[in-house]
Amino acid sequence: MTVPTIRGVIRRNLLIVFLIALLAGGGGFYMLLRNDAMNNAEGEARMLLSSAMAIRSYTTQHILPNFTKMNDAVFHEETVPAFAAQTVFRSVSAGDHAYMYREAALNPTSVSDRAGPFEVDLIRQFRNDGSLKEMRGILDQGGQRLFYLARPIQIKDPKCIICHDTPQRAPKLMVAKYGPNNGFGWKLGDIVGVQLLTVPVTQQFRSTLELVSILIGGLALIFAIAYFALTAAMEATVAGPLDKLTQAADRASRSSASTPALPTTGAHEIRTLAEAIQRLRVSLGKALTQLGERQ
Ligand code: HEC
Repeated sequence: MTVPTIRGVIRRNLLIVFLIALLAGGGGFYMLLRNDAMNNAEGEARMLLSSAMAIRSYTTQHILPNFTKMNDAVFHEETVPAFAAQTVFRSVSAGDHAYMYREAALNPTSVSDRAGPFEVDLIRQFRNDGSLKEMRGILDQGGQRLFYLARPIQIKDPKCIICHDTPQRAPKLMVAKYGPNNGFGWKLGDIVGVQLLTVPVTQQFRSTLELVSILIGGLALIFAIAYFALTAAMEATVAGPLDKLTQAADRASRSSASTPALPTTGAHEIRTLAEAIQRLRVSLGKALTQLGERQ
């Protein structure tokens, strides 16, 4: 095993400390910013989802009862909670596809509402675990990262059954429009679909990464400067003078003839050590001379 040098020990320890600080600082900052981005996205998604819920209940409570009293020759989609919520949301998102609100079902009335693989998976999880009221997370779609909030659609209101029970019971005009094959057979208490709302987080995550790289770059620069300043100071005050002192002391210990003075440069402690060794040599020389005279 090689004995470590003072230069090696100090350099290695500095690098270890800097690396740990860089990782902890960068990692901690990343977690904080990402958490913040997620919280913001969640706040926005929650806000939008409560508006969708409000439109749904407004339609069920205020529009549906009044429209059903009119015996019009056409089916009014405006009376459909799912239609109202999705239509209003499309105007709110103004064509930005990252903002999406879907009411997807396994057996939908409107084919455009058929659940995709991701939605089918969500519906399954809600069905398997009745206590699960909400799911959220990150979803990759078309190169975009989206924050999603999902809630089960459960048939709780008997008014829903008017249109989703059997084609015979449903408004004739509705059946004429959507056909008698899908969107029926739903029962009170069934989880028939999922409300899925997404908001974009691609930009927020990108800014997080940019900020973290700036921080890491800044820290690395400060660390590099600190590393060179500290190693140069150590070289000038300790390691260099110590080397010179060691060489001189080594030379002096091997030849008894000449006794050149030891160099006294470097930090205070090194100078004191050199002076002490010098005094030790002088007294040792004197003692040796006296011993030689006696013999
Ligand atoms: C007036 C008839 C009617 C009533 C009442 C009604 N729905 Fe619907 N529902 C429809 C129609 C029609 C659609 C398709 C709308 C469209 O074009 O997107 C639909 C769509 C849906 C969808 C989207 C998936 C699909 O089937 O296309 C869900 C979920 C849904 N309804 C749940 C409910 C719930 C829950 C209630 C009770 C609060 C309810 N519906 C009340 C007629 C109705």
